[in-house]
Amino acid sequence: MVLTLCLFSSRTGAQPVTPEPTLHIQANHVTAHVSPQLYGLMTEEINYSYEGGLYGELIRNRTFKADPQQPTGWQVVGSGNLSLDESNGLNAALALSLRLDASGASPSTPAGMANTGYWGIPVRPQTTYNLSFFAKCSPGYSGPLVVRLENADGSTIFAQAVFTGLSTGWNQFHAQLVTQNAPVGKDNRLTLSTSSPGTIWFQQVSLFPPTYDQQPNGDRPDIMNLLAAMKPAFLRLPGGNYLEGDHFESRFNWKNTIGRTEDRPGHESPWGYWSTDGFGLMEYMMWCEDLHMEPLLAVFAGYTLRHEHAEPGPELAPYVQDALDEIQYVAGPTNTTWGALRARDGHPAPFPLHYIEVGNEDEFDRSGSYDGRFAQFFKAIKSTYPDLKIIATAKVKSVTPDLLDEHYYRSEEEMEAHAHDYDRYSRENPTKIFVGEWATRVGSPTPNMAGALGDAAWMTGMERNSDIVRMSSYAPLFVNVSDLGKGGSMQWRSDLIGYDALTSYGSPSYYAQVMFSNQHGDDVLETSSSNIGTYLWQPKPRRRNGEELPAPPPQQVPTLFFDATRNASTGDLFLKVVNRSGTDQKVRVLVDGSGPIQSTGVATVLQGDSPDATNSLQDPMHIVPHSSTVSDLGENFEHSFPAYSITILKLASSN
Ligand code: AHR
Repeated sequence: MVLTLCLFSSRTGAQPVTPEPTLHIQANHVTAHVSPQLYGLMTEEINYSYEGGLYGELIRNRTFKADPQQPTGWQVVGSGNLSLDESNGLNAALALSLRLDASGASPSTPAGMANTGYWGIPVRPQTTYNLSFFAKCSPGYSGPLVVRLENADGSTIFAQAVFTGLSTGWNQFHAQLVTQNAPVGKDNRLTLSTSSPGTIWFQQVSLFPPTYDQQPNGDRPDIMNLLAAMKPAFLRLPGGNYLEGDHFESRFNWKNTIGRTEDRPGHESPWGYWSTDGFGLMEYMMWCEDLHMEPLLAVFAGYTLRHEHAEPGPELAPYVQDALDEIQYVAGPTNTTWGALRARDGHPAPFPLHYIEVGNEDEFDRSGSYDGRFAQFFKAIKSTYPDLKIIATAKVKSVTPDLLDEHYYRSEEEMEAHAHDYDRYSRENPTKIFVGEWATRVGSPTPNMAGALGDAAWMTGMERNSDIVRMSSYAPLFVNVSDLGKGGSMQWRSDLIGYDALTSYGSPSYYAQVMFSNQHGDDVLETSSSNIGTYLWQPKPRRRNGEELPAPPPQQVPTLFFDATRNASTGDLFLKVVNRSGTDQKVRVLVDGSGPIQSTGVATVLQGDSPDATNSLQDPMHIVPHSSTVSDLGENFEHSFPAYSITILKLASSN
C-alpha cells in the first residue's frame, strides 16, 4: 500500500508525522442557511414500531385477526377452550370474535384466556391501566367475568376487575386496573376468566398504561421523551414500504385507519405481521402535534412492493382522489367533507401541512409508470393546493418536483466517502433534496459508535449543503429488541432507538442526531482545511443483473469531517468535528471575519472507546454526549479531538 505524508493505512495503524491539520472558518462568508426542516423523523410499522412499540396498547392481537387459523397471542387458562368464530363478529370491520367455551367452568375449575402482550406486559407500582373489551355471552350465562393483571404463572395478582351484566348482544366494558406495590417487571399477563359455565365471545380486548400527555389511544412516554429530545421538525409518514404494501389491498389505506378503533379493519403489513390500525392517520397527526413537528405526508401512488400498478389516467384517478381527500382530512377546513370528519374524530383545527410525498422508492418501479403517475398527482394536488411542496421519490421529466427523496443505507466507510457529495450538487437545480431515509448500517439491533461516526460525517455534509438538502430523516427509527431471531421482533437491523416492553434506549447514532439537531446556527459558514489525514478504503464491487462488476479502485477517505454554522442573532459559532480515527487528532482552528471570540466555550462530545462500543437495554447510557467548558479558544486555537468522537464546539462571540 502506498502512503503519502497525510495518508493513514488504517483506523489505528501507526501514523506518520504530518503537518498540523488545520480547519479554516471564513465567518464573513455565509454559503447557505440551515433549513429549519433539516432534522426530522421517518416512521413506518416495521420492527414492531407502533404495535409493540410507540403505541401504548399492551395487548397483542387484540382483534384476533393476526392469523386466520388461530388466536395468536392468546392462551387458554384453566379448563376452557378458545377458537376464532367468524359467525359472531362485532361489525363489518371486525367480523370475527374469540369464543371462550367455558361450559366446564366451576369455582374449582375456572375457564379463561391470557395474553402476554408484546414480549411481556409492563407492570409498575401505583399505576392505572385502562382496560376495555367488547363481549357477549350465551343465554343463561350469569357471570361474573374476572379480569386480572397478574404475573406470568398467575401466582401474584397485581390488579383485578369483576364484570357482571354480560348479555347475548355485544356491549363494551371498561375498568381501571390500579396496581399497588407491584414490582416493576414485564413477565406478566392479562387474564379474563370465569367460574360460571357458559360461552363468551370477545372482541378488541385492550389495555393501556399511562400514555404521553395522558392522550387516549396514545403513546409510550419513554419513547416520546427520547424523540422530544431530538427536536424533530417533521415526521415523514406512514412509510416506507408500509405505505405501499405488498398488494393494493394491503397498502396503507388511510380511510380504513380513522374513526373509532373498533371500526378499523386492520391490514397485513409488508414486514410480515398484522396491524390493527389502532395507530392510524389521526394518531400520526397527534404524534406530530405532541412533539411540535409537521407531518410530511406520503400518499399512496398506485404502485405496490410486488410491482402491481395503476396506469396513469382513469385507472390511477381513484388513488389521486384518495390523496386529495387525505390532504383535506389533515388540513382542510371543517366545512369540507373530510375536514368535517377530522372534527368528528376530535380535532376541528386543521393540522399544519406543507409537504406531500408521492409514493416511496419509485426507482424500483418496473412498469416505467412513475413519471406519468407522479405528474397526475402533482397536477391534481398543485391545482387545489398550489402552496404545497411536492416530493418525488424517483427522477421524473414531465414536471419539476419541489424535492427529490434520496435514500442511503451504507457502511461507515461509504458514508464517509460520500460525505462531500452534496458539495458538488448543482446549485441551479430547482429540485431540492430530501434525504428521506439514510443510515450507517453498522451494529445490530441498533448502531454502534462506528455507525454514529459514519452518520455524523454524513450529517456534516448535509448541514453544510442545507441550501440543497432541505430535509433529512434517519431510518428506521425504532426496533423492539425482545426477540432478535428469525420471525421475531426485528425485520431490519441498525435502528435508531431500541426497546422492550418495559424500557427503551437511544443508540450512539441517536445521540449524534440529538447533538446535531439541537446545536446549530442558521448560517452555514465557508470552511476549508489542510493536512487532514486520510485512510485507504476499498469500495465493494457492485452487482448488476446478478453479476459482480469489477471492483472500483481504492480511494482515500478523510479521517476528519466538519462544518461550521453561526447563530445570526447571538453570533455564536458551532463547529462540528468528527474524528473517525483511533487516535486523538490535534487540530488548529482559524476563524476569519468573525470579530473577537471568547476564550471560553462549550464542547459537547460523544465518544466511544472503540468503533464497536454501543448502548443497549442493559447499558443504555454507555455512550452519551458530555458537555464541558473549554478554555484557550479564540480566532486561532489548537484543540485535540479525541479518537472515535463527535464534537460540537460552541464558540461565543465577544461582540
Ligand atoms: O427503512 C426500511 C425500508 O427501506 C423502507 O421501508 C423502504 O422505503 C426502504 O427500502
